[in-house]
Amino acid sequence: MKGIILAGGNGRRLAPLTDVTNKHLLPVYDKPMILYPLNTLVQTGIRDILIVTGKEYAGGFLKLLGSGREFGCRFTFEVQEDALGIAHALGLAADFVDGEDCAVILGDNIYEDNLAAPVNSFRSGGHIFLKKIEDASRFGVAEVQGNKILNIEEKPAKPKSDLAVTGFYIYDNSVFNVIKTLKPSGRGELEITDVNNEFIRQGKMTYSMLSGHWTDSGTFESLYRANTIARDIKAAGRTTPFEEIIKKRNQKNN
Ligand code: G1P
Repeated sequence: MKGIILAGGNGRRLAPLTDVTNKHLLPVYDKPMILYPLNTLVQTGIRDILIVTGKEYAGGFLKLLGSGREFGCRFTFEVQEDALGIAHALGLAADFVDGEDCAVILGDNIYEDNLAAPVNSFRSGGHIFLKKIEDASRFGVAEVQGNKILNIEEKPAKPKSDLAVTGFYIYDNSVFNVIKTLKPSGRGELEITDVNNEFIRQGKMTYSMLSGHWTDSGTFESLYRANTIARDIKAAGRTTPFEEIIKKRNQKNN
């Protein structure tokens, strides 16, 4: 399975921080944000990873991540010229994925859970990860009945449940045909929720519930929360493979 990290977008809700860098390079506790979703992907065993980002600060990603050699991965970079949405950014990955299945993670999502089991047992269709939260109206919200998903609404004023659709998605290759049929939403973007609803309509979508902490980092409040989650995980002695890489880099530079 191929991995994709979506790190484009304007990050306008975090201005003026995002006037000087890409949202996904901002600090979350002791590391640039993108290293957390990268860790979530690497934990599943995926090593072949595409990073889709905007052109303005693309150099920062190259400087931080390089070829992937230090991380035991192979990184490929793709530029999304305009912020036309998550599904649009994913569409740019079609050649990279090249007929295989893919695991997609949003570059501002911080997961405590290890997602290796659902990634490795994926067979076909789509699979999403839900988290029970207090104010779901800021997210895609799923309506479920038993183990069936009925529908997802993007940022509903009156959510039908407290189940947020988090930013990790697994798809088989038919996702790229679905993306070709999408029309821009009210906010002028191709929505990942429209992709997911099409998989639901076809009866091909399954889901898991997250048990650990999860947050996005797209607003000041959620970015603050991301910092506390990252700090708590580290304080509990759970480090990522990246601590060693960062240590080695610092030794080289001193
Ligand atoms: C996006 C998706 C939304 C999902 C969220 C997770 O929202 O559109 O369905 O719940 O990511 O972080 P956005 O980042 O565009 O606000």
